[in-house]
Amino acid sequence: MRKPRRLSNEQLAPWVWEAQNLSPKKPALAKSGEPDSASLPTEEGLGKVAARPPVTPIDWAALFGNANPTEIEVGTGKGLFLLNAALARPGTNFFGIEIVRKYQLYAATRYAIRNLPNVKTTCSDAKVILRDFVPAGSVAAVHVYFPDPWWKARHKKRRVFTPEFAADAARAIALGGRLYIASDVEEYFGVMTAIVGAMPAFKVRPEEEQLAAPRTEAGFATNFERKALETGGSVWRAVYERTPEPVTVVADPVV
Ligand SMILES: C[S@@+](CC[C@H](N)C(=O)[O-])C[C@H]1O[C@@H](n2cnc3c(N)ncnc32)[C@H](O)[C@@H]1O
Repeated sequence: MRKPRRLSNEQLAPWVWEAQNLSPKKPALAKSGEPDSASLPTEEGLGKVAARPPVTPIDWAALFGNANPTEIEVGTGKGLFLLNAALARPGTNFFGIEIVRKYQLYAATRYAIRNLPNVKTTCSDAKVILRDFVPAGSVAAVHVYFPDPWWKARHKKRRVFTPEFAADAARAIALGGRLYIASDVEEYFGVMTAIVGAMPAFKVRPEEEQLAAPRTEAGFATNFERKALETGGSVWRAVYERTPEPVTVVADPVV
């Protein structure tokens, strides 16, 4: 990764949001697939491990200092999509969730250098943020571009896009809002569309497919999209509208 200009934590602070009281981790699994006995909770600690600590839901108006609509990107990587989106749509707030700290800080640095007022980032697991911190119906869109495919069968449970994740995204998106997805992995794209396609809370919007992300002048929207297109790969994309139907957790197509 090319090193961006280094900014101090104080300089980056306006572009960084830290989650408080994240849920405790699940016990680690030993090779056998059973929980590692060293990480099993003691009887005394059982309640503590099982219970989710109370969290304060994000107040978007307070966080951004305005009542503009907010959109979330999951897995921002180096932050190119949010950079272009925030520049192109100053009347929308953008919140990026990235699990790897060095990528989050790289992206935050890009926004700080341009002094962008309408974008913030957090270094967290997007599944947890959507489940525990984002108020229901509070965002105008969720964008998920080129999520990690985790090729090996035994690693697929690490994928971010699961039926539970899709349900949490549906809860977060306001009625009439959008879910944007793209991938260069046909099989994973098929899984995502199978999940969302089975949810009455979403309706596919094929006519909006090409709007799934604002393109740069060079014709790509994210770094991974650029890599896919440069190597002659295909990119699949879809856009869904949040309907008034109830949110359901559908059967997992990856089992
Ligand atoms: C393949 S990269 C794509 C990055 C960017 N969206 C793009 O298209 O260039 C996937 C990104 O998702 C991040 N990621 C993976 N799991 C995540 C999770 N559970 N929560 C948030 N980010 C995650 C990875 O660290 C990585 O930066």
